[in-house]
Amino acid sequence: MRLAVLKERRPAETRVAATPETVKKLIGLGLTVAVEAGAGLTAGIIDAAYAEAGAEVAPDAAAALAGAGIVFKVRAPLEDELALVPRGALLVGQLNADAALAAAFAAAGVEACAMEMAPRITRAQSLDILSSQANLAGYRAVIEAAGAFDRGFPMLMTAAGTIPAANVFVMGAGVAGLQAIATARRLGGRVSATDVRPAAKEEIKSLGATYVGYEDEESRAAQTSGGYAKAMSAEFMAKQAEVVAAHLAKQDIVICTALVQGRRAPILVNEAMVTSMKPGSVIVDIASDAGGNCAATVPGQAITTANGVQVLGWNNWPARISGASSALFARNLLTFLTTFWDKEAKVPKLPAEDDIVKGVTLTRGGAVVHPAFAPAAAG
Ligand code: NAI
Repeated sequence: MRLAVLKERRPAETRVAATPETVKKLIGLGLTVAVEAGAGLTAGIIDAAYAEAGAEVAPDAAAALAGAGIVFKVRAPLEDELALVPRGALLVGQLNADAALAAAFAAAGVEACAMEMAPRITRAQSLDILSSQANLAGYRAVIEAAGAFDRGFPMLMTAAGTIPAANVFVMGAGVAGLQAIATARRLGGRVSATDVRPAAKEEIKSLGATYVGYEDEESRAAQTSGGYAKAMSAEFMAKQAEVVAAHLAKQDIVICTALVQGRRAPILVNEAMVTSMKPGSVIVDIASDAGGNCAATVPGQAITTANGVQVLGWNNWPARISGASSALFARNLLTFLTTFWDKEAKVPKLPAEDDIVKGVTLTRGGAVVHPAFAPAAAG
């Protein structure tokens, strides 16, 4: 069976869904791998490296996709690419589907697996693209904050005098936030963090950061059975804002990572809070893809507010560290395929009743089957 790896075409998407390392392992499964020419360039992988790993380097998407039974992508294919995917092919990637896209996959006869919908169970950890990418986004956010900040992170004691350590506040202590805390600590910052899920408080402390937050009955039940945070009430958000406001005014760096699955990211830093911050301070909003946690964030841009606060609202933070994010993304997809691989027949075998398969499968046999998008779900 042939597996195609395409060059990503969406703006600023620098990642690639396979690396020479995973290509070797895919070939080891019995697959033939075709990589579109130039697919890895923005992640620091040249065509020759794929060829050396045993892949065929195809001149364009059409050539890579000809006869493919499996397609690995970072993001959902564009309309013209989808038209080239052979009917019946398994499409695996971060598809960010809505009902219309799921319907388009069904119409194209593609068996689409949206990896971002994998359940948060232990067995799924090694194929969890949200975790692997969030981890790197959290790291990168701190590095970019350090680059934009006009001071340093650690306390610097010199003969000419002392520069104080930076105060770093991380909002949202999930996968990205915990990595941000660890990175900011390593750089020597004085780190604090907030979250609503009760488990996060201990995790924040265990990384040596100070917990800042508001807790009540609602926050004690803030975690869904799926591991995500619930959307909090307006009353809770107002109390949380009160606690956070005084703290924010003293911060040099704020890293925003808070997300609520399937919704716009909660606004945790309002305009008044931004105004209260010191000139030269930096807010990095990696929740910008979901609208952002900061009211001043302009998704996709870096701005400086009237009071001199830099707000980095770039989209797609994992793509800003493309070598590492591609390596982990590619391993996640490889793990998915190997988990559901029929060694004898050398083809994927996706049991419909398996929790992971159920979670990620959008379409099968020309129909939308995922409960979130299936026509039956609307009725
Ligand atoms: P996420 O990306 O959905 O959200 C980031 C963080 O924002 C979360 O910690 C959330 O609690 C926080 N947040 C949401 N609303 C907030 C608000 N109003 N104020 C402050 N913080 C707010 O979450 P992520 O990073 O994906 O992880 C969430 C949980 O899932 C973690 O406990 C993690 O350990 C668990 N997890 C489990 C996996 C598995 O077992 N396969 C894989 C990945 C994560």
